Amino acid sequence: MDPLDFIISLAREAGTLLAERLNWPRDIVLKHRADLVTDADRASEALVVQRIREQFPAAAILGEEGGVYAGTADERFIVDPLDGTTNYAHRYPLFCVSIAYERAGVIEAGAIYGPMIDELYAARRGEPATLNGKPIGVSTIDAVRNALVCTGFVPARFERNMANFTKLSAASQAVRRDGSAALDIAFVATGRFEAFWEWDLKPWDMAAGALIVESAGGTVTAIDGSALDLTAGSILASNGATHAEMQKLLT
Ligand code: IPD
Ligand code: CA
Ligand code: CA
Repeated sequence: MDPLDFIISLAREAGTLLAERLNWPRDIVLKHRADLVTDADRASEALVVQRIREQFPAAAILGEEGGVYAGTADERFIVDPLDGTTNYAHRYPLFCVSIAYERAGVIEAGAIYGPMIDELYAARRGEPATLNGKPIGVSTIDAVRNALVCTGFVPARFERNMANFTKLSAASQAVRRDGSAALDIAFVATGRFEAFWEWDLKPWDMAAGALIVESAGGTVTAIDGSALDLTAGSILASNGATHAEMQKLLT
């Protein structure tokens, strides 16, 4: 089966599961202070891992909630079964499923599905990014003073980002903190945000979104401008036209 078709339908299936369970009574566990995991995170990951094992039994899996398989093929699925768990726990409708497909160490396809907004972002390396099947592109705004930008931070390390939050609040039209890094990055691809930055992300927060932004004509690097390293945590995803200015502002 084509990996992109597979992850698109899988992100939809898992996202639909999340939406169905949204109003169920919560079973919330605190991993660390303000780092939540719900029964929905686990149910979504179980579904995603089961489907991958059925269709791509030799592939490796890196799933946030412990779904880790070494695999025997040079293929890997990187899965955030519920990105935006705190939003989800409060029934704030910005959350998603993010799945990336990697071959020989290169992300080849990505899919992000936000079920409450019914938006499916997808990209295959070398082809235009899409939203619900239609091509999308980043915005053409070329100055931060005209930009809507977004950031995120883990609550335990919010202090690290406060100086930049303040600085960007003064320099841009506005700063958002929407609570789902994968969707926030996808919103750069569709031209809603000119830029998104965050320091402490994990591979499953960024892998699909980074390819989707690049495939929509944007630029993705680490915050210091070096090449994106999915294991290093830092990301600056932008429309390209504001990238250098954003990078200079962020310290
Ligand atoms: C979190 C969200 C949040 C971001 C955090 C992530 P999770 O992912 O993407 O917006 O600021 O850094 O850990 O825990 O909801 O999958
Ligand atoms: Ca996440
Ligand atoms: Ca998650």
